[in-house]
Amino acid sequence: MSVKNVLRMGHPVLRQIAAPVTEFNTPELNSLIQDMFDTMAALDGAGLAAPQIGVSRRVVIFGVERNRRYPAAEPVPQTILINPEVLPLDDDMEEGWEGCLSVPGLRGQVPRYTHIIYRGYDETGHLFEREVRGFHARVVQHEVDHLDGILYPQRIRDFSRFGFEAELTGHDF
Ligand code: NI
Repeated sequence: MSVKNVLRMGHPVLRQIAAPVTEFNTPELNSLIQDMFDTMAALDGAGLAAPQIGVSRRVVIFGVERNRRYPAAEPVPQTILINPEVLPLDDDMEEGWEGCLSVPGLRGQVPRYTHIIYRGYDETGHLFEREVRGFHARVVQHEVDHLDGILYPQRIRDFSRFGFEAELTGHDF
């Protein structure tokens, strides 16, 4: 159990396609997940993907109760999601502000599908599926992008809505 160093944009591991998890209930997987929760909690994040701590595996965690970095956000249940799939249920997308622990100090407005189904495995290898909208759907798409080597700045369409959070006054995020 430990807080790990979070890799920043530009590190090659963040650009890789992460490998699927093939074995569940292993000490390696359990300690990876624990390290991810410790790291996310220490940095007050809403989510974290394994590549961000240097492990190129298809594991993400997320969850928001009340988050200082996302005060306007609706709650999202604490979730461990392994080998995920995301399916948009229609073509609707909306812009919303995102930040990332691998892109410290910055925020940008990113288009995401508003209504999705996602499925994947929990830490015991149990398959589950959820239909979600809005901020929950946004968080999942952001985290799953990390597993395909994509960081949110690569999704931005309007770079007038990208900058340092300390300078972005008057924006609701
Ligand atoms: Ni991120």
